[in-house]
Amino acid sequence: MNKASHKISLTDGETEISCPEGVSVLVAMHRAGLSKIPVGCRAGGCGVCKVRVVSGQYHVGKMSRAHVSEADEAAGVVLACKVFPEGDLLIDPQGKFYKSQQK
Ligand code: FES
Repeated sequence: MNKASHKISLTDGETEISCPEGVSVLVAMHRAGLSKIPVGCRAGGCGVCKVRVVSGQYHVGKMSRAHVSEADEAAGVVLACKVFPEGDLLIDPQGKFYKSQQK
């Protein structure tokens, strides 16, 4: 059975990957060999994979409130390891390591 796949784009305008249904954005990014979003605990606890979803439909798993407040979550600021796309997404990485990984 083929699972649906969704397109994940980053706001850098050059990164685009496909993310199968049920796979988190962070895992899909990692599988694609990209390190644009930092990988930490992969369990919603450490906060390094924080991103802002600019547009698109998704649902989230359990995330540490120490890193994502309810207001953050409502504004689309979420942890990529716990973001499961339900459609194509545009994502803006927020992690503090993002800039240092650019070059
Ligand atoms: S990798 Fe630790 S919160 Fe996502």
